[in-house]
Amino acid sequence: MLLDLSPEALLTTTRTVRKRLDFERPVERETLEACLETALQAPNGSNMQLWRWVVVDDRARVAELAAIYAEAIRDYAAQVEGTGFYAAGGPPGMDRITESVMHLAENLHRAPALVVPCIAGRLEKCDVFMQASLWGSILPAAWSLMLALRLHGLGSAWTTVHLNREQEAAELLGIPYDDYTQAGLFPVAYTIGSEFRPAPRQPLSKVLHWNRWA
Ligand SMILES: Cc1cc2nc3c(=O)[nH]c(=O)nc-3n(C[C@H](O)[C@H](O)[C@H](O)COP(=O)(O)O)c2cc1C
Repeated sequence: MLLDLSPEALLTTTRTVRKRLDFERPVERETLEACLETALQAPNGSNMQLWRWVVVDDRARVAELAAIYAEAIRDYAAQVEGTGFYAAGGPPGMDRITESVMHLAENLHRAPALVVPCIAGRLEKCDVFMQASLWGSILPAAWSLMLALRLHGLGSAWTTVHLNREQEAAELLGIPYDDYTQAGLFPVAYTIGSEFRPAPRQPLSKVLHWNRWA
Protein backbone atom coordinates (compact mmCIF):
# COMPACT_ATOMS: atom_id res chain seq x y z
CA MET A 1 0.00 0.00 0.00
CA LEU A 2 1.25 3.48 -0.84
CA LEU A 3 1.35 6.32 1.70
CA ASP A 4 -0.97 9.21 0.96
CA LEU A 5 1.66 11.94 0.53
CA SER A 6 1.46 15.04 -1.64
CA PRO A 7 4.41 15.42 -4.06
CA GLU A 8 5.61 18.33 -1.90
CA ALA A 9 5.42 16.24 1.29
CA LEU A 10 7.25 13.36 -0.39
CA LEU A 11 10.03 15.66 -1.55
CA THR A 12 10.44 17.43 1.77
CA THR A 13 10.07 14.54 4.23
CA THR A 14 12.17 11.81 2.67
CA ARG A 15 14.77 11.69 5.42
CA THR A 16 17.85 9.72 6.27
CA VAL A 17 16.33 7.09 8.56
CA ARG A 18 18.63 5.24 10.94
CA LYS A 19 16.91 4.81 14.31
CA ARG A 20 13.41 4.31 12.95
CA LEU A 21 14.19 1.42 10.63
CA ASP A 22 12.13 -1.64 11.61
CA PHE A 23 14.70 -4.41 11.49
CA GLU A 24 12.18 -7.01 12.67
CA ARG A 25 9.81 -6.65 9.72
CA PRO A 26 10.80 -8.37 6.48
CA VAL A 27 10.73 -6.47 3.20
CA GLU A 28 9.20 -8.32 0.26
CA ARG A 29 11.38 -8.58 -2.83
CA GLU A 30 8.40 -7.50 -5.01
CA THR A 31 8.13 -4.21 -3.12
CA LEU A 32 11.84 -3.57 -3.50
CA GLU A 33 11.64 -4.38 -7.19
CA ALA A 34 8.66 -2.02 -7.63
CA CYS A 35 10.75 0.78 -6.07
CA LEU A 36 13.71 -0.07 -8.29
CA GLU A 37 11.44 0.01 -11.37
CA THR A 38 10.51 3.56 -10.41
CA ALA A 39 14.19 4.42 -9.94
CA LEU A 40 14.97 3.28 -13.47
CA GLN A 41 12.82 6.13 -14.80
CA ALA A 42 15.47 8.63 -13.67
CA PRO A 43 17.49 10.54 -16.26
CA ASN A 44 20.86 9.14 -17.22
CA GLY A 45 23.52 10.10 -19.77
CA SER A 46 22.41 9.34 -23.36
CA ASN A 47 19.96 6.84 -21.85
CA MET A 48 22.81 4.34 -21.81
CA GLN A 49 21.59 2.93 -18.49
CA LEU A 50 25.04 2.06 -17.28
CA TRP A 51 23.68 1.33 -13.82
CA ARG A 52 23.58 -1.92 -11.92
CA TRP A 53 21.87 -2.55 -8.60
CA VAL A 54 23.07 -5.16 -6.16
CA VAL A 55 20.45 -5.98 -3.55
CA VAL A 56 21.64 -8.09 -0.66
CA ASP A 57 19.05 -9.92 1.43
CA ASP A 58 20.92 -13.15 2.17
CA ARG A 59 21.45 -12.96 5.94
CA ALA A 60 25.06 -14.13 5.91
CA ARG A 61 26.01 -11.71 3.14
CA VAL A 62 24.18 -8.81 4.80
CA ALA A 63 26.22 -9.56 7.93
CA GLU A 64 29.50 -9.62 5.98
CA LEU A 65 28.72 -6.37 4.19
CA ALA A 66 27.63 -4.77 7.46
CA ALA A 67 30.96 -5.82 8.99
CA ILE A 68 32.82 -4.03 6.17
CA TYR A 69 30.64 -0.96 6.79
CA ALA A 70 31.37 -1.05 10.54
CA GLU A 71 35.11 -1.26 9.87
CA ALA A 72 34.87 1.70 7.49
CA ILE A 73 33.01 3.71 10.13
CA ARG A 74 35.72 2.88 12.68
CA ASP A 75 38.43 4.01 10.21
CA TYR A 76 36.53 7.22 9.56
CA ALA A 77 35.96 7.96 13.25
CA ALA A 78 39.69 7.44 13.91
CA GLN A 79 40.54 9.75 11.01
CA VAL A 80 38.38 12.64 12.21
CA GLU A 81 39.10 12.19 15.93
CA GLY A 82 40.91 15.18 17.34
CA THR A 83 40.46 17.22 14.17
CA GLY A 84 37.73 19.27 15.83
CA PHE A 85 35.40 18.28 12.99
CA TYR A 86 32.64 17.33 15.41
CA ALA A 87 33.45 19.99 17.99
CA ALA A 88 31.58 23.24 18.60
CA GLY A 89 31.56 25.21 15.39
CA GLY A 90 30.83 22.12 13.33
CA PRO A 91 27.48 21.73 11.63
CA PRO A 92 24.56 22.18 14.06
CA GLY A 93 23.23 18.91 15.49
CA MET A 94 26.45 17.03 14.68
CA ASP A 95 26.55 15.14 18.00
CA ARG A 96 23.07 13.80 17.40
CA ILE A 97 24.02 12.82 13.86
CA THR A 98 27.17 11.06 15.08
CA GLU A 99 25.18 9.07 17.62
CA SER A 100 22.66 8.12 14.97
CA VAL A 101 25.45 7.18 12.53
CA MET A 102 26.98 4.90 15.16
CA HIS A 103 23.59 3.35 15.90
CA LEU A 104 23.16 2.45 12.25
CA ALA A 105 26.69 1.06 12.01
CA GLU A 106 26.07 -1.18 15.03
CA ASN A 107 22.76 -2.43 13.69
CA LEU A 108 23.29 -2.59 9.94
CA HIS A 109 23.56 -6.40 10.00
CA ARG A 110 19.90 -6.49 11.08
CA ALA A 111 18.66 -4.62 7.99
CA PRO A 112 16.29 -6.73 5.88
CA ALA A 113 18.14 -5.62 2.74
CA LEU A 114 21.11 -3.55 1.62
CA VAL A 115 21.17 -1.89 -1.80
CA VAL A 116 24.42 -1.02 -3.57
CA PRO A 117 23.92 1.13 -6.70
CA CYS A 118 26.77 0.82 -9.20
CA ILE A 119 27.78 2.70 -12.34
CA ALA A 120 30.00 1.50 -15.17
CA GLY A 121 33.58 2.79 -15.15
CA ARG A 122 36.15 3.70 -12.52
CA LEU A 123 35.21 7.27 -11.73
CA GLU A 124 38.51 8.23 -10.11
CA LYS A 125 40.11 7.77 -13.54
CA CYS A 126 37.73 10.21 -15.29
CA ASP A 127 37.95 13.94 -15.92
CA VAL A 128 35.34 16.18 -14.33
CA PHE A 129 33.04 16.06 -17.35
CA MET A 130 32.96 12.27 -17.33
CA GLN A 131 32.69 12.12 -13.55
CA ALA A 132 29.69 14.47 -13.61
CA SER A 133 28.16 12.50 -16.46
CA LEU A 134 28.58 9.17 -14.70
CA TRP A 135 27.62 10.28 -11.18
CA GLY A 136 24.71 12.06 -12.84
CA SER A 137 23.74 8.75 -14.40
CA ILE A 138 23.30 6.95 -11.09
CA LEU A 139 22.57 9.50 -8.33
CA PRO A 140 19.20 10.74 -9.67
CA ALA A 141 18.06 7.11 -9.87
CA ALA A 142 19.35 6.44 -6.38
CA TRP A 143 17.37 9.41 -5.05
CA SER A 144 14.27 8.25 -6.95
CA LEU A 145 14.71 4.93 -5.21
CA MET A 146 14.68 6.70 -1.83
CA LEU A 147 11.51 8.57 -2.76
CA ALA A 148 9.83 5.40 -4.00
CA LEU A 149 10.79 3.57 -0.81
CA ARG A 150 9.21 6.34 1.27
CA LEU A 151 6.00 6.11 -0.75
CA HIS A 152 5.86 2.39 0.05
CA GLY A 153 6.34 3.01 3.78
CA LEU A 154 9.98 2.00 3.64
CA GLY A 155 12.97 4.02 4.69
CA SER A 156 16.64 4.18 3.98
CA ALA A 157 19.81 6.05 4.78
CA TRP A 158 22.10 7.31 2.07
CA THR A 159 25.58 6.13 3.07
CA THR A 160 28.96 6.27 1.37
CA VAL A 161 31.44 5.46 4.12
CA HIS A 162 31.97 1.85 3.02
CA LEU A 163 33.50 3.20 -0.20
CA ASN A 164 36.75 3.55 1.73
CA ARG A 165 36.64 -0.24 1.60
CA GLU A 166 34.95 -0.48 -1.79
CA GLN A 167 37.24 -3.20 -3.09
CA GLU A 168 36.44 -5.50 -0.15
CA ALA A 169 32.73 -5.00 -0.77
CA ALA A 170 33.25 -5.65 -4.49
CA GLU A 171 34.98 -8.95 -3.71
CA LEU A 172 32.23 -9.98 -1.31
CA LEU A 173 29.46 -9.19 -3.78
CA GLY A 174 31.26 -10.25 -6.98
CA ILE A 175 31.11 -6.71 -8.40
CA PRO A 176 33.76 -6.32 -11.14
CA TYR A 177 35.77 -3.59 -9.39
CA ASP A 178 37.80 -2.55 -12.44
CA ASP A 179 34.65 -1.92 -14.48
CA TYR A 180 32.09 -0.63 -11.97
CA THR A 181 32.13 2.04 -9.25
CA GLN A 182 29.83 1.66 -6.27
CA ALA A 183 27.89 4.82 -5.43
CA GLY A 184 26.78 4.03 -1.89
CA LEU A 185 25.13 1.53 0.38
CA PHE A 186 21.49 1.91 1.35
CA PRO A 187 19.86 -0.12 4.12
CA VAL A 188 16.18 -0.72 3.43
CA ALA A 189 13.50 -1.45 6.02
CA TYR A 190 9.95 -0.45 6.86
CA THR A 191 9.97 2.68 8.96
CA ILE A 192 8.62 2.80 12.49
CA GLY A 193 5.76 5.25 11.94
CA SER A 194 5.49 7.19 8.72
CA GLU A 195 5.55 10.80 9.93
CA PHE A 196 8.75 12.62 9.04
CA ARG A 197 9.47 16.32 9.09
CA PRO A 198 11.32 18.65 6.75
CA ALA A 199 14.99 18.94 7.78
CA PRO A 200 16.70 22.02 9.15
CA ARG A 201 18.61 23.65 6.30
CA GLN A 202 20.36 26.96 5.76
CA PRO A 203 18.05 29.64 4.42
CA LEU A 204 17.87 29.75 0.64
CA SER A 205 19.10 33.34 0.71
CA LYS A 206 22.48 32.11 2.02
CA VAL A 207 23.08 29.74 -0.85
CA LEU A 208 21.36 31.36 -3.81
CA HIS A 209 23.11 33.56 -6.37
CA TRP A 210 21.01 35.30 -9.00
CA ASN A 211 22.89 35.95 -12.24
CA ARG A 212 26.33 36.31 -10.63
CA TRP A 213 28.16 34.76 -7.66
CA ALA A 214 28.71 38.15 -6.00
C1 LIG B 1 26.59 11.75 -0.12
C2 LIG B 1 26.07 11.35 1.25
C3 LIG B 1 26.84 10.50 2.03
C4 LIG B 1 26.39 10.09 3.28
N1 LIG B 1 27.09 9.15 3.99
C5 LIG B 1 26.60 8.68 5.15
C6 LIG B 1 27.23 7.58 5.80
O1 LIG B 1 28.23 7.03 5.35
N2 LIG B 1 26.67 7.11 6.94
C7 LIG B 1 25.53 7.65 7.47
O2 LIG B 1 25.06 7.16 8.50
N3 LIG B 1 24.90 8.69 6.86
C8 LIG B 1 25.40 9.19 5.71
N4 LIG B 1 24.73 10.20 5.04
C9 LIG B 1 23.48 10.78 5.60
C10 LIG B 1 23.65 12.24 6.04
O3 LIG B 1 24.32 12.27 7.26
C11 LIG B 1 22.25 12.88 6.14
O4 LIG B 1 21.72 12.96 4.84
C12 LIG B 1 22.28 14.27 6.75
O5 LIG B 1 22.56 14.15 8.10
C13 LIG B 1 20.99 15.04 6.55
O6 LIG B 1 19.89 14.31 7.02
P1 LIG B 1 18.60 14.13 6.09
O7 LIG B 1 19.04 13.28 4.93
O8 LIG B 1 17.56 13.44 6.92
O9 LIG B 1 18.18 15.49 5.67
C14 LIG B 1 25.16 10.60 3.78
C15 LIG B 1 24.39 11.45 2.97
C16 LIG B 1 24.82 11.80 1.72
C17 LIG B 1 23.94 12.67 0.85
